[in-house]
Amino acid sequence: MKKQQFISDYAVYDDENELNAQDAELLRYAHEATLNSYAPYSKFHVGAAVRLANGVIIKGNNIENAAYPSGLCAERTALFAAQAQYPDVPVEAIAITAQSEHHEVCEPVAPCGACRQVMVEVEQRHQHPMRIICQGNTGPVMVFDGIETLMPFIFLEKFL
Ligand code: THU
Repeated sequence: MKKQQFISDYAVYDDENELNAQDAELLRYAHEATLNSYAPYSKFHVGAAVRLANGVIIKGNNIENAAYPSGLCAERTALFAAQAQYPDVPVEAIAITAQSEHHEVCEPVAPCGACRQVMVEVEQRHQHPMRIICQGNTGPVMVFDGIETLMPFIFLEKFL
């Protein structure tokens, strides 16, 4: 037996003012998207914005349902909308933000496992890494260059 370590490289910025112009713009769209969130149960409003290789930006937000599992996260709403409208265009980046009706969200929101698996598929489909930019409502911003930095040992088509 040997012990191994998984080491991941990612960037942490103090706030959005430290970001490059493109990332800062995408984050603004994500914040806008939180305003369309339908979250009457969790009161946790998540916004996502996807930038495509052709420059188009697509927004998404979480949409909940009284039958809880029927709802969908902001990230998948945005990614599925992007792929439905532009099936041949790679996704360059996704920004994710959140605000809660209960408390200030000042830590970056990390995408859930299901959304990460969808990001894997989008990267594989287009053979293009996705930049993932995460913030809360305010505060630090985490930036991951490609889903592999956020999710080790990913499940891939080659296992099938
Ligand atoms: N949610 C997202 O939209 N994205 C995430 O990455 C985590 C969670 C939503 C799902 C649900 O509507 C609410 O946040 C609380 O879990």
